[in-house]
Formats: sequence, C-alpha cells, structure tokens
Amino acid sequence: MASVIVVGTQWGDEGKGKVVDLLTEYADLIVRFQGGNNAGHTLVVNDETFIFHLIPSGILYDDKICAIGNGVVLDPSVLIEELDELAKRGRPVSPERLKISFNTHLIMPYHKALDHAREAAKSDGKKIGTTGRGIGPCYEDKIVRNGIKVGDLLDPELFKEKLETNIKEKNFILTKMLNSQGLDADEIYAQYMEYAKRLEPFVDNVSILIDEVDKKGGNILFEGAQGTQLDIDHGTYPFVTSSNTVAGGACCGAGIGPSKIDYVVGICKAYTTRVGGGPFPTELFDEIGDSIQQKGAEFGATTGRKRRCGWLDGIVLKDAVRLNGLNGLAITKLDVLSDIDPLKICKGYDVEGERFDYMPCNIRKVEKIKPLYEEMKGWQGDITGARSLDELPTEARDYVKAIEDMTQCPAIIVSVGPGRDQTILLENPFKK
Ligand code: GDP
Ligand code: IMO
Ligand code: MG
Repeated sequence: MASVIVVGTQWGDEGKGKVVDLLTEYADLIVRFQGGNNAGHTLVVNDETFIFHLIPSGILYDDKICAIGNGVVLDPSVLIEELDELAKRGRPVSPERLKISFNTHLIMPYHKALDHAREAAKSDGKKIGTTGRGIGPCYEDKIVRNGIKVGDLLDPELFKEKLETNIKEKNFILTKMLNSQGLDADEIYAQYMEYAKRLEPFVDNVSILIDEVDKKGGNILFEGAQGTQLDIDHGTYPFVTSSNTVAGGACCGAGIGPSKIDYVVGICKAYTTRVGGGPFPTELFDEIGDSIQQKGAEFGATTGRKRRCGWLDGIVLKDAVRLNGLNGLAITKLDVLSDIDPLKICKGYDVEGERFDYMPCNIRKVEKIKPLYEEMKGWQGDITGARSLDELPTEARDYVKAIEDMTQCPAIIVSVGPGRDQTILLENPFKK
C-alpha cells in the first residue's frame, strides 16, 4: 500500500544498505533504480557481513522479491559472482526472487577499458577517481543510443550486430586516442552468450511487476545508490557519477509515476565522507579526521580506498531535503562520534566574502568554500547499545535535534552500529 524511496544525502556510503535491509521487513518488493557496481552496500546481520554491488539489499529476506530496474547499468559478470557467493553462503537466489529489467543497460568490457583509459589520461586534480567499473561510458552509450540492453542478450543476432558496431568505434578510440589496447568482438560475444544462458530466467518487465505488486496492495521499497552530491545534474559536477541519484531518479529508473510515491527517506551519516576526487568543504586533515576514518572503518566497500572524512555539512543536508523532497532522515553512525568534544556542524559557506546557504553551482566557487561552523558539546562513552532516544546521552540527543532543526526534517531512524538490531526506529515510513 506504500512506496518508499531510500536515497543518500551526501557523497554516498551513508548506510543505505543497512537501512534498506531494515525496512525490507515491511516491504514486498525491493527495487534498485540507478547506478551499477560502483555501489557497495553493506549489511551486517547476526554478525555476518554481506556487501552488495548490484543485488538489492532486500535479498536476505527469502520471502521478498528484489528487482533491478531499467535505470541500473549491469555488469553480468559481477551479478553472477554475487549470485554464486550468496549460493555458497547457503542463500541461493531463484529467478522467482530476483527480476532484471529487459531495459537495463549492460556494462561491456570496452566500457571498463574506456573508464580506466580516460581516468589515466587526466592530470592530477582533474581525475574524478571513478570506481573503474565502466559506469560513465555505459550511461554515455545509453544516452547516445548505442547501448546494449539485458533484453538484447536474448536475441543473439541483434546482440552481435550491436557489439560489432560498437567495437569498431570503441577500438578506434582506445587505440588511436587513449593509447590503450583494443578488444576482440568474438571473445566478448562468446563470453556474453554464456552470461545470457545464466541470466535469461531472471529477465522480466520490472515496471509491470511494480504495478502488479502495487495493485495487490503490496509495499515497494526503492533503493538508491551513491548520494545526492554525486547526482549527474545536481552534484558537484564533474566530480559526480553518471546517473540521477536523487529520488526523482527512482521513477524513471524503475518505471513508476511520481504520484505513486508516498515517502522519501534520506540517509545521513552523522559526519561526512567522500571517496574519490572533487571538492569536500568540511574535509578534515587532522587527527580528528583520522580517528573518524579509523573508528568508522571508512574504507570504500567497492574499491577498498580510504574514505576522506569531515564534519557534518548542514548545507549538503539542506540541499538533499530540497532535491529529494525528503520526508524523513535516517541518521547513521552516530556511535562513531562518541568521545569527540567539541563537535562541529557546518551551517553556511563563505566564498571570498559571499555567503551561501546552498552548494554553489560553479565548481570554482565550490573549491573555494570556507565552511562556517557551529560547535556542539560532544558526549562520552559507547552508545552502540542504545535502543531508544532516552538511552542516548543528552548531548547525542541534542546533536540529532540540531540536525532536525537545521534541515526542518524529522529523524525517523537513528543508527548506532552496523548491525540490523543496532537501530532506533522512531517512525516507520511504511506505516505513516
Ligand atoms: P551504503 O553504500 O550507503 O550502503 O554504505 P556502505 O555500506 O558503503 O558504508 C556504510 C558502512 O557503515 C558499512 O560498513 C556499514 O556496515 C556501516 N554502518 C552502517 N550504519 C552504521 C552505524 O550506525 N554505526 C557504525 N559504526 N557503522 C555503521
Ligand atoms: P554507494 O551506493 C561513494 C564515486 C566514485 C567517484 C565518482 C564517480 O556505495 O554509496 P563512478 O565509478 O560512479 O563513475 O565514480 O563517484 N562513487 C561513490 N562514492 N559511494 C558510492 O556508492 C559511489 N559510487 C560512485 O568514488 O568519486
Ligand atoms: Mg557504499
């Protein structure tokens, strides 16, 4: 009876996987709608850790259906690896439980080669620090109408024709312009036809599936990847990913109309992190940043890179409320801020004497931001055992309240540890 979208409010890795897993209990269908295996969503359930790159984070509930929407870019080798890994861990996924849209675009080997070669050709300071998974080049082919879709895997002749057209162009760019190696079409064809055999039973019409679940009165959960500041239109361009990460992307990326969406949850880490290149106004270069990085185990779930860490950026959050139409916030990793006193929250930006209450559109201005901070008293001790707001120290409650006041958005979830149970659920978006 309700459709809920979960999105990241910052630069990704806010804890979307944990919250999606948590809310799956109340959902019937869980749909990924954008991004690809640049994402890494971590779930910790009964001390077992799972990291999902493509499979929706609802998959651990074996009575729920998960779907990969048309807005995702899919590397079949990674999906098959994830399926095999789950089976090895005693959680096989049948085609009844996972559906892949006909319209999902395929990441091809030349997309990964182009991603690497383009990054290598960029000078320091200009590198985006992509995950190297071929995300940008795949979306590029989709938009320019050269893409190969999951549905094309089921039509070998059409697949071959599209592959041959693409490989001519891609090999020219790789060898003549990017000083890289060309790829062999026959080899790719043989490899992808193997993938086709494996994935065919999962291919379906995801938009129709969503409609059916909705008509039966089921609950649908849409799982975003990345974060608002990585959105191709609204993020810190060009240091962004290549899809619309904001809530609006769920409609196009899954095949559902905006009037069907009931609630949007923004996942907000209690501080800020960023992986890869690009401006980060509240970044810390001192021992506090190092201690947050270590205590928060801030390493990329996809690439293993160290995440850059900084104070909570209230401007980023306010932008996220506006850009996603957030109804509620899930504040994660509050436990990581224990024993830091004072804490700082950025409440405004100064750019050469000009005050901003939103992220400036001009990247040169973004690079010159001086954050304007407000200090808050920190708290001491371990809070990972708290299961209600009352069990938190006053200062931790004040910190949550400061986020609510600043964003004018209620905190509906407060997370105090990676485990499913280490959560304070204040309001259930499916039971509004
Ligand atoms: P996602 O990409 O948004 O799903 O986030 P990631 O999985 O990349 O990164 C979040 C990390 O923080 C994961 O290792 C989670 O297990 C962990 N995590 C999530 N919530 C909490 C929390 O409240 N406290 C702590 N300490 N860790 C958390
Ligand atoms: P989840 O879903 C954090 C970053 C990369 C790079 C930029 C572009 O786990 O939050 P891409 O490979 O997408 O072309 O890289 O975006 N990036 C992420 N950062 N979390 C993610 O996903 C990310 N996905 C991409 O580091 O800066
Ligand atoms: Mg992640």
